[in-house]
Amino acid sequence: MALLKILHYPDPRLRTIAKPVEHFDDELVKLVADMAETMYDAVGIGLAATQVNVHKQVIVMDLSEDRSDLKVFINPVIQKASDQHVAHQEGCLSVPGVFDEVQRPDLIHVKAQELNGKTFELEAQGLLAVCLQHEMDHLNGKVFVDYLSRLKQGRIKTKLQKAEKLATADSVPPLY
Ligand code: NI
Repeated sequence: MALLKILHYPDPRLRTIAKPVEHFDDELVKLVADMAETMYDAVGIGLAATQVNVHKQVIVMDLSEDRSDLKVFINPVIQKASDQHVAHQEGCLSVPGVFDEVQRPDLIHVKAQELNGKTFELEAQGLLAVCLQHEMDHLNGKVFVDYLSRLKQGRIKTKLQKAEKLATADSVPPLY
């Protein structure tokens, strides 16, 4: 297993549209294992392949308190969504340090595939529904920041670009 590098907003690669997975092979198993390790290491509850610059429709998630319930969604599709929207505070491993409210359908019906290719369906509500929609947005090149006002988007961009610059400066080896 290996830790993968997480892309940070406003990296344009986060805008890439992910392609459906066609081969349920060892390469996919390795990708999911690496994504899970990366998500746990970053203390996130969900991660989409887009965020690690792999443009395939793959999501990993763990909403449990003790981090023992890894969920994998391959090629997920929302089949039905409730008219009723609810607001949740969201954050994202690709937008570190930023949290804001997003309105999304409260209840969704999702169809997806398991790691072995088997199709399953589920009804999701609450945090699971929020997280699934957030991660599926990533696969469509969308970030939760896109739902915020232009003003907020501008502030977040500036803040993260500054942070990125500092991080790059820190990693420069000492000069002699
Ligand atoms: Ni995210």
